[in-house]
Amino acid sequence: MKFKVAGKSEIPVGKVKVFELEGERIALCNVRGAFYAIEDICTHDGGALDQGELIGDIIECPRHGAQFRVTDGGVIKMPAVVPLRTFPLFIEGDDIYVEV
Ligand code: FES
Repeated sequence: MKFKVAGKSEIPVGKVKVFELEGERIALCNVRGAFYAIEDICTHDGGALDQGELIGDIIECPRHGAQFRVTDGGVIKMPAVVPLRTFPLFIEGDDIYVEV
């Protein structure tokens, strides 16, 4: 199902906004004007990724420093080894929709 979660103007470049949808914690990331939706829970030990730093398309967990690519959830740096889940995202005008 597709849900409207934010307006593009609410999330500046390089910022992350977290929200809950259907019981999932999802982080919406603005990478140089392109938006991506990832699960907000680090696969290493549950760190809240929105509290970490988004550098380009890489997000760093604030707990032990694991890094993930927000474009596809891939692991860039240990200690995490399992990729993040990502969610389909659609833009219509200024509105961002995420499908869960
Ligand atoms: S909980 Fe994220 S690196 Fe450990």
